[in-house]
Amino acid sequence: PNPLLLKPKARINKNVQLISIPRSMERVTVGTKCEVAGWGWTSVQGQMTNVMRQVQLKVQNGSICQQLFKNYQPQSMICVGDDSSKKAPYKGDSGGPLICKQKAHGIVSHGRERHLFPEVFTRIFYFAPWIHEQLRKFSLQELPDSPSSD
Ligand SMILES: *[C@@H]1O[C@H](CO)[C@@H](O)[C@H](O)[C@H]1NC(C)=O
Repeated sequence: PNPLLLKPKARINKNVQLISIPRSMERVTVGTKCEVAGWGWTSVQGQMTNVMRQVQLKVQNGSICQQLFKNYQPQSMICVGDDSSKKAPYKGDSGGPLICKQKAHGIVSHGRERHLFPEVFTRIFYFAPWIHEQLRKFSLQELPDSPSSD
């Protein structure tokens, strides 16, 4: 798969910021509070919004997701949600970051139709070697004197 490419270079400002991915010692533990945001549906009936919404969710014990999602992989996924909350990522929020302790730990992935709890996020740490490899490739391409690869 190709990484996401932006046409113009991103400009860092108040609304566009960098975020780090976790190091090995920073795996999120059950109960960690995280933030997730997006422009996805604001109801299970499909209400759209153009205002970004944000919610705090807790990292859950993976065994909860293992019971409900037959393809759940604890190494590469994080089980997230708040069973007492009526707010959660939904359709249109996929791809958004799960931010725990100032680091991007997860990516909104999937849930069950019409259910808000629990939900499965991609575990970014598992893909860190691939991410670093892509960053290395792209930073090499951007060296001013490097030969063009077209
Ligand atoms: C997760 O749940 C399993 C099964 O109920 C339990 O054995 C385990 O200790 C739990 N782990 C954590 C970190 O709470």
